[in-house]
Amino acid sequence: MKFSVTTPIYYINGDPHIGHAYASVAADIIARFKRLDGFNVHFCTGTDEHGVKVARSAEKAGLEPQKFCDLMSQKFRDMSAAVNLSYDDFIRTTEARHIKSAQAFWKLLEKDVYKSSYSGWYSARDEEYIAESDLVDGKAPSGAPVEWMEEESYFFRLSAYQDKLLEYYEKNPDFIAPVSRRNEVISFVKSGLKDLSISRSKFSWGVPVPNADGHVMYVWVDALANYLTSFGFPEKDVSEDMANCVHIVGKEILRFHAVYWPAFLMSAGISPPKRIFAHGWWTCDGQKMSKSVGNVVDPFEIIKKYGLDQMRFFLFREVRFGEDGDFSEESLKNRVLYDLANDLGNLVQRVLAFIQKRDGNFTTNYDFSDAEKALFANSRNLLNKTRPLIDKQDLNGVLNAIWELISETNKFVNDMKPWELAKTDVTRLNAVLTALCESIRSVAFGIAPFMPDTARKVFDFINAEGKSFAEIEENFADQKLPTPTPLFPKEKAVL
Ligand code: MSP
Repeated sequence: MKFSVTTPIYYINGDPHIGHAYASVAADIIARFKRLDGFNVHFCTGTDEHGVKVARSAEKAGLEPQKFCDLMSQKFRDMSAAVNLSYDDFIRTTEARHIKSAQAFWKLLEKDVYKSSYSGWYSARDEEYIAESDLVDGKAPSGAPVEWMEEESYFFRLSAYQDKLLEYYEKNPDFIAPVSRRNEVISFVKSGLKDLSISRSKFSWGVPVPNADGHVMYVWVDALANYLTSFGFPEKDVSEDMANCVHIVGKEILRFHAVYWPAFLMSAGISPPKRIFAHGWWTCDGQKMSKSVGNVVDPFEIIKKYGLDQMRFFLFREVRFGEDGDFSEESLKNRVLYDLANDLGNLVQRVLAFIQKRDGNFTTNYDFSDAEKALFANSRNLLNKTRPLIDKQDLNGVLNAIWELISETNKFVNDMKPWELAKTDVTRLNAVLTALCESIRSVAFGIAPFMPDTARKVFDFINAEGKSFAEIEENFADQKLPTPTPLFPKEKAVL
């Protein structure tokens, strides 16, 4: 079965920050989960390199736009590597394959395109046209300055898609998530759609419009087409890929993805994506992150200070995916100490070090009493619990389910007291340890998409390196287990 997931492609006018890392890691978690669950996954990310904003930043930096893009795009590639993205494709919109794809896409829209002239406000920072009635104190709703624009432009007949879009949302209730955002989009469309200016003629850093000298595409038409490029458009028929594709986007760009994009695709005769999930925003210590305030969280710094898996975990444990969150190092430290070192790290260490202390030979015994049966069943059931949550992009819900199993397992250790059974009933002890190892293995599978390096360590400790979920059904054979080392610093073995 095919499945694909995308991140937004990032504007390269500034350095990557925690917000970019967040969207990227979210898509990565979903991609990794689906791969482990047997899907044929395509995961793409990349950089959005055209438009006024990028051209001006290049000018400010005193560089040719392409040179500037090469330099800045590399920083996003480095960020992708630093946060351990398992992407299959990294798209740059200045690549020849993309320019070809965007132009082929434009041609498919032509029946809905006409030439006219545009006059109105534009926010370069948002790369968005702002209606006079939406101005707030003379600025865009985002607070960005606006400028007056008057030029010849091609328009897309978006107004003709109002009813079709509403019908599509109605028939596909899961198309936009979370639900609150879906409702916002529906009211926006119901309030009336105007035709959209999709080319610029007084500006040249963009994809040239086919057969229209002097016009470049509006950067959002170019940017959205990146998803098609990544699937091999125009050489390949990409409808099936699109139909199985989930776009992860920030809430501020939902309108482009949930209104313009499906309208363009309907016009082009290509299937709309399966789902668009809009996530919330991170603030820092209660304030919007901004270069001028100097509170932009740098993912490279956080990784250096706290570790990669620790950061990946924190971002999805702390806040429900879809809601806004506040980034504070204090909460990150607490999560690492309590959830990771105490709950997870200590569980793995206390059980496996115990086996090690007894000579490292692990002898399975599936002759379970009710207590082992319950733990074993709940461990095996973890995947059934998390699969539907991943399909709803409820990443926080998945971690909650894993941590419920971890707490249950820690309680099981305390109740069963294996250190006492070792003196009184070794057969029973083996049953208890078998159930415990099964729980540890399920937990390792559960955390693998979130914390791939940590999961690999656990798999190594129990001789169960990188298998698929299907293989989780296999039982342990008797074996000698290697010596575990602490998963997280600060952890103490207390068994
Ligand atoms: N280039 C467009 C997207 C085109 S997609 C076809 C764009 N780029 S962006 O660099 O400005 O931001 C992209 C995404 O980065 C946001 O939609 C969001 O996913 C993420 N974030 C950027 N800042 C963020 C926070 N402060 N918090 C959380 N995520 C945010 O828009």
